Amino acid sequence: MQTEKVIKRDQKYLMHTYSRSPLVIERGAGMFAYAPDGREYLDFTSGIGVNALGYCHPAWVAAVTEQAQTLQHTSNLYYTAPCGKLAKRLCRRTGLDRVFFGNSGAEANEGAIKCARKYSVTHYSAARNKVITLNNSFHGRTLATLTATGQDVFHHDFGPFPENFLYVPANDFAALEAAADDSVCAVMMEMVQGEGGVVALDADYVHQVEAFCRARDILIIVDEVQTGVGRTGTFLACEHYGLRPDIVTLAKGLGGGLPIGAVLTTEKVGETMGPGSHGSTFGGNPVVCAGACAVLDTMDDEFLKNVNDRAVQLRAALADLPHVAQISGLGLMVGIAFEEGIQAADVRAACERKGLLVLTAKTRLRLLPPLILTEQDVDRAVAILREVLQTF
Ligand SMILES: Cc1ncc(COP(=O)(O)O)c(C=O)c1O
Repeated sequence: MQTEKVIKRDQKYLMHTYSRSPLVIERGAGMFAYAPDGREYLDFTSGIGVNALGYCHPAWVAAVTEQAQTLQHTSNLYYTAPCGKLAKRLCRRTGLDRVFFGNSGAEANEGAIKCARKYSVTHYSAARNKVITLNNSFHGRTLATLTATGQDVFHHDFGPFPENFLYVPANDFAALEAAADDSVCAVMMEMVQGEGGVVALDADYVHQVEAFCRARDILIIVDEVQTGVGRTGTFLACEHYGLRPDIVTLAKGLGGGLPIGAVLTTEKVGETMGPGSHGSTFGGNPVVCAGACAVLDTMDDEFLKNVNDRAVQLRAALADLPHVAQISGLGLMVGIAFEEGIQAADVRAACERKGLLVLTAKTRLRLLPPLILTEQDVDRAVAILREVLQTF
């Protein structure tokens, strides 16, 4: 009854911009989501990579609650402690120097594009403003980040788009070299294309792009909105590649469940963004930043070791399941390609009926479990997947 009421009200009053499952989640604890009728779901989606510490982690709840009882918001015209504390933690963990806080992944990427253009205009000329992105990428839903997104399917009906974005195929260095003339200020890429089907970039390609961009002072923006904050077993996914970007964007897992986006830059890029160059009313909100500090403080070496151990366990077990053709991605960002004739969307729906929440990305099944998962959680998820796949 409660479920029906919630769904009907939502359908009447909200824009129908999402294809939703007929499932209402009323509360969560750790790895589990609960429906109003008490049904338990093992959640391998973490709200699309957001609930890095699972549902209602005690350290995160305590930090957010304490801050909400102290100061919930003030403007960026004044200083508050939590956002500076978070920026310091981020700089220490990434080796970058300056941070700007916004509220979402798309907003972080907008900020990154602005930083790249500002740097280039300041040091070169206004004509040096083009941004190269990769085919099959996903960078967000605002007009500039939608334009940056290298998938035409998202572009229908929303033009005209901002100018001066170029697209090149991933892992094709010659194509990038040919496109990157003197009017290019930045290359923007995800280390693992998440929405694009959980596809990791080749290491050789990344190294070639880095050397090429360094030689020309073309800035490298790495969109770590989905891959960042421990998801792949390192704090940033670009650490797997030994890549040192000029700009990194974070969102999703950083806030542990509250909205946040962050643009991290080197000193030379950050210093060009002076007063009035960018802003956000809610950016750096003390409650959100206090929660994000708790996320980072929880994510120590032992925590990341568990991410890596569970990723190895999960990937090995998945490769052994019926109808599985390929496992892709990095760490706990997992894509599963099936043999022909098996639709990931059907597998997802069958898993949900058996109490396991999973995602799809293009033709693949996608797993983004909370990073707190245990050996037993992996066993349970794999057992459900096996049971489901045996029926196909
Ligand atoms: C790589 C990447 N960039 C940007 C975004 C956009 O983030 P948001 O939905 O928080 O705006 C996403 C969202 O899925 C993403 O995966």
